[in-house]
Amino acid sequence: MPTAWESVHFVRGAAEADEPMGSKEKWWVELPQYGERPWLLKLARVDERDGTVSGEDWAEWTVHQLAEHLGVPSATVRPASLEGRRAIVSRSVLHDRLEYLDHGNSVLSARFPGYDQSVQGENPGYTPLAVRDALSEVAPPADGDWPSHFSAFDVWAGYVFMDAWVAGRDRHHENWAVVLRGGERRLAPSFDHGNALGFQERDDRRARMLLDEAHLQRWAERGTSRHFFGRPKLTELAWRALDLASPATRRFWAERLDAVSEDDVESVVAQVPRAIMSEVAHTFVVRLLITNRRRLLDGYSSS
Ligand SMILES: Nc1ncnc2c1ncn2[C@@H]1O[C@H](COP(=O)(O)OP(=O)(O)O)[C@@H](O)[C@H]1O
Ligand SMILES: [Mg+2]
Repeated sequence: MPTAWESVHFVRGAAEADEPMGSKEKWWVELPQYGERPWLLKLARVDERDGTVSGEDWAEWTVHQLAEHLGVPSATVRPASLEGRRAIVSRSVLHDRLEYLDHGNSVLSARFPGYDQSVQGENPGYTPLAVRDALSEVAPPADGDWPSHFSAFDVWAGYVFMDAWVAGRDRHHENWAVVLRGGERRLAPSFDHGNALGFQERDDRRARMLLDEAHLQRWAERGTSRHFFGRPKLTELAWRALDLASPATRRFWAERLDAVSEDDVESVVAQVPRAIMSEVAHTFVVRLLITNRRRLLDGYSSS
């Protein structure tokens, strides 16, 4: 059974401290009915020119559901609204106050003293190889359905593999982290997936791509990382990371993707209400996921 889209509604005043990192309006909130951990309430951005709400909310929720199918650990996301404005809540990946996040840029600069932590766009020091080295002393997330010998980097490679599937272009060095607890260091579950699945496209363009398979294919092929050195294609980045991991890791994530059926994808996307995601956007997202899955699996078997 797919998880239902059940929105949590907030009124002003519910929100606690602002979250200083990242780019959107967001606040930490409590949801006692879902346990003790705080949740980060993030509003979907609105295009000031015409008031269009971007699909960051449905993209973030959908990617979390897909991550569950793939077996990639990811922050739990629920749909939300703040006085009628579309949003999501993302449950803290920290279990209690003994845990802290050490973001990728800090992890990388601890390993490479010259690493530039402040770069916003393409970063010459940001490569899968650098990430592998920086994670060498870090354990994988605590709960995961992967072989017991998996390292943090074997799991991190799964994050960029998932990004290639969902056309997620935002895996910059503050969009992954390590959880510190006393002397223990573990890769944090993946978070911040709103920038994916063509969330910002307009429906007329989605409709044109649905009429022309080659157009959709070209759009998918153009998906590059904005942050890694060389701005690689998302699929190239995924294969580079998996090649740096091991053949077994490569096979593991490819088999996990192979096991996600078109029905699985359709039933996840079908949960998003039509009032939030148009019919065209539903069809486009399903077609995009099927196309990218095929591209990745073809890439796996041809190499
Ligand atoms: N589920 C979460 N658990 C703990 N910290 C989080 C979680 N989600 C986001 N954060 C923190 O908040 C910051 C901003 O949130 P993010 O989801 O990345 O939003 P933005 O799209 O604005 O970058 C992250 O860099 C991270 O430090
Ligand atoms: Mg972010």
